[in-house]
Amino acid sequence: MRFIVNGASMEAQVDLRTSLLDLLRDHLGLTGSKKGCNQGACGACTVLVDGTRINSCLALAVQYQNREIVTVEGLAEGAALHPLQAAFVEHDGFQCGYCTPGQLCSAIGMADEIARGVPSIVTADLSAETIPLDHDELRERMSGNLCRCGAYNGIVAAIAETFAK
Ligand code: FES
Repeated sequence: MRFIVNGASMEAQVDLRTSLLDLLRDHLGLTGSKKGCNQGACGACTVLVDGTRINSCLALAVQYQNREIVTVEGLAEGAALHPLQAAFVEHDGFQCGYCTPGQLCSAIGMADEIARGVPSIVTADLSAETIPLDHDELRERMSGNLCRCGAYNGIVAAIAETFAK
């Protein structure tokens, strides 16, 4: 099977029951995406597929052949951190760091959802132009990503600085 991960074409022979997360970590050596709950509850495994955030622990790898998969390893450009990564550093948006790869990918996917006008529970049916990325909105949209250290203030500050209009 052929997969496109972080812009590179990769091949792997995997069982049809292999999750996308296990493909990334165990077959392709990309261990940035983390396995927390392995049942869709914590968000540590979040990656982007064609720009949309998904829990890779719930996805079957076979379904994502020839799709554009982006993991935390693909966010920086060489030595230059993604602006969101730099903001996490600036605002201490982590403690142990285990949830950070998922938080980063999820926030980037969230920004794309807002750009496409995808409403949240908070914003109901507001258009993309009027969605306010205040902290209530941001916390709601990031509620699928848990941080057991409780570094939420830094996480929210970093995301708000990067994406708030
Ligand atoms: Fe996938 Fe927790 S490991 S949501």
